[in-house]
Amino acid sequence: MHSILVLNSKGGCGKSTLATNIAGYFAQLGKRVALADCDPQGSSRDWLSIRPSSATEIYDASIRGGKLHVPRNTDVIVIDTPAATHGQRLANYVRLGQTMVIPLMPSPIDIRAAEHFIDELYSLRKLIKRKIKLATVANRVREDTLAAAKLDYYLDKMKLPNGQKLPYMTVLRSSQNYIKAAEKGLSIFEFAPAKTLYDREQWQPLLRWLSSKRSLPG
Ligand SMILES: Nc1ncnc2c1ncn2[C@@H]1O[C@H](COP(=O)(O)OP(=O)(O)O)[C@@H](O)[C@H]1O
Ligand SMILES: [Mg+2]
Repeated sequence: MHSILVLNSKGGCGKSTLATNIAGYFAQLGKRVALADCDPQGSSRDWLSIRPSSATEIYDASIRGGKLHVPRNTDVIVIDTPAATHGQRLANYVRLGQTMVIPLMPSPIDIRAAEHFIDELYSLRKLIKRKIKLATVANRVREDTLAAAKLDYYLDKMKLPNGQKLPYMTVLRSSQNYIKAAEKGLSIFEFAPAKTLYDREQWQPLLRWLSSKRSLPG
């Protein structure tokens, strides 16, 4: 079973959007997928509750007493986490995930906050005694802005406070497709194929990574 954690201490950066779309992607491929929503706001659980019966089922999972409770034979478990998660609570989540996906919004303030968050994640490695595999994804990028044009270049060059290169995967534009698909309990991989073509292309580097051994701790 591959466990994928979606996290960032910042609210509104796209954790639930990424979690539900990752879940939907693997479900429509025919994998047995479970989704654990650990945020009391319950965005991912709400999404699951309106998912149509015509779509491949995604199972509800949870974390209780520090343990994951997932249906048997699950191939992929996606864990959506609340904002403002730090310290011991963060370590408890990190213990449950093999792969971490961190959405970040492309403002200088958000990127700096994400740098510190990733630094904190790396500092937990000793605590949890294993390698961390993580990727960042720039999300809600408005393509008409100059900032967007520079973003790819900037993120690619960025160094974390610990000197490591930012493990930066892809840019996802701001698109109504995410909102419209979510309103139906679907991912963009299951919704309006012609309209979502460009968005699905933007996901490819992340999906290739998630589907390969590169995203698993050695
Ligand atoms: N790429 C995107 N394009 C358009 N809207 C987005 C995108 N990503 C997220 N959103 C919207 O932004 C809001 C916050 O996203 P959400 O996934 O709930 O963030 P988080 O879970 O980190 O708080 C939601 O209304 C969501 O629909
Ligand atoms: Mg959320």
